[in-house]
Amino acid sequence: MVNILDVLKNDTTLPVHYHSLSIEEMENRVRDIKAQLGEKLFIPAHHYQKDEIVQFADTTGDSLQLAQICQQNNKAETIIFCGVHFMAETADMLTTHEQKVLLPDLRAGCSLADMANIEQTERGWEIMQAELGDTIIPLTYVNSTAAIKSFVGKNGGATVTSSNAHKVIEWALQEKERVLFLPDQHLGRNTCYDLGIPLDEMAVWNPISNEFEYEGDIEKAKIILWKGHCSVHQNFTVENIEQIRLNDPDMNVIVHPECPYETVAKSDFAGSTSYIIKEIEEASPGSKWAIGTEMNLVQRLAKQHQDKEIISLNPNLCPCMTMNRITLPYLLWSLESIATKEYKHVIQVDDETASNAKLALNRMLEHV
Ligand code: 13P
Ligand code: SF4
Repeated sequence: MVNILDVLKNDTTLPVHYHSLSIEEMENRVRDIKAQLGEKLFIPAHHYQKDEIVQFADTTGDSLQLAQICQQNNKAETIIFCGVHFMAETADMLTTHEQKVLLPDLRAGCSLADMANIEQTERGWEIMQAELGDTIIPLTYVNSTAAIKSFVGKNGGATVTSSNAHKVIEWALQEKERVLFLPDQHLGRNTCYDLGIPLDEMAVWNPISNEFEYEGDIEKAKIILWKGHCSVHQNFTVENIEQIRLNDPDMNVIVHPECPYETVAKSDFAGSTSYIIKEIEEASPGSKWAIGTEMNLVQRLAKQHQDKEIISLNPNLCPCMTMNRITLPYLLWSLESIATKEYKHVIQVDDETASNAKLALNRMLEHV
């Protein structure tokens, strides 16, 4: 979670002199610093980043790919992570102590990750243990804080991403009778349904009222879904799909599994960010696609594949406000802070949290 005290402690307001720079000046400065630092600097960017950032990325990827790439990089002294807070935390935990991970704007959090805090999780876990005994293994989507990953690691579980959730859930169900899936109910429900688990064997845990939302005997539930959601993907609806098909029956609908179950069930294809990119790349010229994922990626795909018709499934486009916090001036500020050793802004997970969280991350990386 983006801790408000960290935000206040660090001066997160872009210094005024950046406002008077032209785009060209900023781009030239970024290019110069990158050239000077060479392999000592590494800039990974998530696929949802703006083009003004992606043009300077050393690599782009989904959250799983970026975690793996950062883990393998042993040359960079500084990693400027262009994505959101939990991704930078993951990069910090998978790299050495000597490597610094910077997030250009500390306000780049994730509303989904913020839907599960550690106090709620520990309280809920205690109640679940009392009701269901030692039958539950916790899993968390990587879109969660380091503290949640640490809790999961300590309790024998693993992290998952949208591209390996199937494999990790299958593994978890061999370990224990039940899975607690944090914090995205939609990814959990969609993946478990794909694996053949009926909806009536999935309960929802409400962390506000501290109770199960489930009709019937809770002993029947195999999956406990944390009641969280992504505020971006939640906006792709069944009504959007019906409207698109009414306008053009030839449209293929492809969505991310963070979308609600009903949306995924009605779509033609569903899968992680990398899956969506691959399907579009491999689609035949002239084919038509309505995509249910973050706006920057949809617009980039439309630009890159002009031989295909590509639109957003939701006409309101659905940007991720926090991903979009990372902009060219903030990237430049972060880069220039390396020379002055001010380092805007270091993301560092404490050792105790990191050691348990790494257990969860490594269990996931064994199942990719
Ligand atoms: P992936 O990169 O795992 O597809 O996740 C999408 C997302 O919402 C990242 O925040
Ligand atoms: Fe978080 Fe959703 Fe934005 Fe991804 S798209 S960073 S899950 S709010």
